[in-house]
Parts: sequence; structure tokens; C-alpha cells
Amino acid sequence: MAEKGAKTAPIAGDPANFTKFWNELAGQSPYRMTRKLYVKSYGCQMNVYDSHRMADLLAPEGYVETAAPDDADLIILNTCHIREKAADKVYSELGRVRQLKEDAANNGRRVTVAVAGCVAQAEGAEIIRRAPVVDLVIGPQSYHRLPDLLARNSRAVETEFPVEDKFDFLPAPSKAATRARGVTAFVTVQEGCDKFCTFCVVPYTRGAEVSRPVEKIFDEVRNLADAGVREVTLIGQNVNAYHGEDRNGRTWTLGQLLRRIAEIPGIARLRYSTSHPCDVDDDLIDAHRDLPQLSPQLHLPVQSGSDRILDAMNRRHTRADYLRTIDRLRAARPDLALTSDFIVGFPGETEDDFSDTLSLVNDVGYSDSFSFKYSQRPGTPGATMTEQVPEEVKSERLARLQAAIKRHQAAFNARCVGCDFDVLMEKRGRDAGQLTGRSPYLQPVQVMAPQDLIGRMVSVTITGTIANSLFGVLADTPRIAAESRVAQSFAAVGA
Ligand code: 5AD
Ligand code: SF4
Repeated sequence: MAEKGAKTAPIAGDPANFTKFWNELAGQSPYRMTRKLYVKSYGCQMNVYDSHRMADLLAPEGYVETAAPDDADLIILNTCHIREKAADKVYSELGRVRQLKEDAANNGRRVTVAVAGCVAQAEGAEIIRRAPVVDLVIGPQSYHRLPDLLARNSRAVETEFPVEDKFDFLPAPSKAATRARGVTAFVTVQEGCDKFCTFCVVPYTRGAEVSRPVEKIFDEVRNLADAGVREVTLIGQNVNAYHGEDRNGRTWTLGQLLRRIAEIPGIARLRYSTSHPCDVDDDLIDAHRDLPQLSPQLHLPVQSGSDRILDAMNRRHTRADYLRTIDRLRAARPDLALTSDFIVGFPGETEDDFSDTLSLVNDVGYSDSFSFKYSQRPGTPGATMTEQVPEEVKSERLARLQAAIKRHQAAFNARCVGCDFDVLMEKRGRDAGQLTGRSPYLQPVQVMAPQDLIGRMVSVTITGTIANSLFGVLADTPRIAAESRVAQSFAAVGA
């Protein structure tokens, strides 16, 4: 029923006016009507986590998530600024969003468009200037203010680093929302970075390192486990610099945090990402030795194999330091599979420097890795360095690096054939009757299996491999020592 002072229904005219009337009424009804929210995430896992938190925050305001942008009343693009193309993609998406917004307006429906995340933080009001379709620009530290900004119903740019902690304003996700998101979940334990690698925008867009208090993390993981989540990945821009406090003011390391989280009933597997080599401490290495729940796969970006380039990148470690850290980790957990990020064509990188990167790939024998051409990020020291490497040289080096990474990945996957792995079944696979899960080493595994195994950790014998995926069958034979087979294979991997 309409409140006093509310709009009166149009009695004649264009039918579109009726739609418009009811839509406007929906916005002011005390019996809040459902509105549709479409969130698109770009970039890293932190953004996926933030997108979920934004949806949780807006659920009590009557917003229900939709997978169809043309159906949405609120469109949020949660952006990434780490490399050039990421921002370009956002601007071209905004072109499509403008068309959607115009079509909706022609039907009397108002669509609000928000740009969140690191492009929002870095570009601020420039986004609205370049893309007038945008109503709200909101940085990663301010999205708890979304309901407030939406209620104001006017254009706004919110990119300050507020004094309050956004996590104090975010509601716990409902069990239904958690279930809908599946049996694996991310939990942010740390944000920001103090390392200031000379190529990277993160310290500027996400700010200084901040760790969440330990009890809040436990509560969140317990809630996830209660709702059926079996695998948790602790995330942070520099996650192993975690230094959160407990309620007694004691500071915890990531290793200590993992140890305690592993005790939470229902949590069958733990991962963490992304780590800096300098912050791998004894607690973390011991956690790899002691915790069967802790995945034997570690993403430990090195960026370059050349000491000269590592120094120019301000990575604060040498190639030998990195290899020593890996030796210590592998001594604690012999089957540990490593992945990395690499940048080719950092300013001043010579062919010799690049050869050092290729030889490091061979020395470590990564199970997989990401690799990127260096891109100049405004405001970072790298952007103004002389000796920028020509684009065609970067492309050619990237192709050679990716071929080397692929070779090692294929060799690693091939060695998995015949092993029995514990696979957490996550969802239906592409083919009928098939489920998809992940191996302990993070490889996707396709298995013919009944649907009621979703959410269960099952033993799978790996029978084959195609590109990035493994194929397997439910194991009904006695387990073979998969871990020791993979461990032995590292001896051969460096060849
Ligand atoms: N150019 C290319 N790659 C970059 N990365 C970060 N900044 C840049 C840049 N300016 C890569 C790094 C990092 C990953 C998340 O993105 O490899 O680890
Ligand atoms: Fe960026 Fe990672 Fe370096 Fe921090 S440690 S500045 S997030 S690359």
C-alpha cells in the first residue's frame, strides 16, 4: 500500500508510464520490493571475496543477485588495476552497461551503476568523466558505505581510506548465500602491502598492510564450515605477512592461524595466497610439515630469476634466497608443488637476465605459473625508469617463458597419472554424470561420479590428463602412496 505523500497511479497514457510508476513505487515502499544486483569481478581472489561481501551487505536492503546484467537494478563492476588491460576491459564493459542502462530507462526502470575495486581507487572521479554512465565510484576500503551511498540517490566518489574498519560493518553471509557459493570459500585475513615492488600499484590502491583480528577470522571460518564449506583459502595481498591480534593483544603469525583453523570441524583442506618469499617464516614451514589439511601447493611469486632485475624490482631477496626458502619448504613437505608469477620485460631486462628466469623455471620445476608482460603503471617507480623494453621483445620472451612453464606443467601432470588423490568434489562437470573437483595440488579433476558426492573428499585414481585438467575414476583399490610418487618426481623435474 502506498504511503501518504507517495506517487499517485497514472490513469492514462503510455503503458510504459505504468511500469515506471510501479518501479518508482517499489523504491519508496515500506514493504521493500526485491531489486536485482549484478556484480562482475575482475582480477584476483580478493575481488571475488569483496564481491560476495558486497552482495551480503546489500541483501538486507532487498537486493538479490542475478547472473543477467540486463535484468539488474544495480550493476557493480568490481575492478582490478594491476595490469593495463584490466582497466581497459572495465571501460569497454562500461560501454555495454551504458546501452543496458538506456534500454532500461526507456522501459521506465532506473539502473544504478557502480565501479568498485582498484580501478575505482586509482582513477576516482576520472571514471565518471570518462564514462558518465557511472553513478558511484567506490574504493576497496569503502564498500561498507554502499547502502548509504545508494540511499542518497546521487552521484558519489568514495575513495578515501576511512578510519573505521569496513569488516566491522559487513554482515556474516547467510547460510543460503554460502551454500549457493559452493563448498570452497575465500576468507580475507589481511589486506594491503608494504613491500612496494617497483612495478606494482597494490600498495597505492589497497594501502598499508592491515591484518584482521584472529577471533573474527575463526568466527567467519566456523560459519562457513557450518554452512557446508570444506575448503578455505586464506587470502591477502601479502598473506604471509599476517600479524593479526587476538583478544588478549597477542600477535599471531599465519602459521599459528593455519594451525588453529585446521582444528575447526568440517574444514578438510586449507590453502593461502598470495605469499611473499621474504615472509616465509619458521611457523609457516612447520605448518606445512604438521598439518595434513594444508594443501601441498604453494603460490610463491618470484617475478624474475635475475638478481639484477630482482633488485631493480625492489623484491628484497635474491634468486639464491628464494631457492633456499623452497629447499626448506620441501624439506618440511617433500611433495610440495610450487607455482609462481613472472614478469618479462621489466625495464632494463637483458637477454641474459631473461635466461636467468628460464633457468629458474627449470631449477624449481613449477607445477604451473602465471606470466605477464611488464606494463607501466602510473605512479609506480617502474613507469618512469629508462630502458623500457620494446613490446615485441616482451612478446617474444613471454612466448618462450610460457612454453617452458607449459612443459613443466605437462610433466608434473603426467607424473600424477596412476596416483590416488584426495579430491574435493566441487560441482557438476561439463559432461553428463561428471563431477569436477580439485586435487591437493590444485589441478582440476574430472570424474564420473554421483552428484551426492559434491562437498565430499573422495579418493580418485588419476587415469589421464588433458591441458590443465586431470581425469580420474573413483578409487576402489588400495591407495598407492601418491605423495611419495609426486615427491620422487621432483628429483627429475629440474632436468
Ligand atoms: N606489469 C605486469 N605484471 C604485473 N603484476 C603486477 N604488476 C604488474 C605490472 N605492472 C603481476 C605480478 C604479480 C601479479 C599479481 O601481477 O606478477 O605477482
Ligand atoms: Fe605488489 Fe605483491 Fe610486491 Fe606487494 S609484494 S608490492 S602486492 S607485487
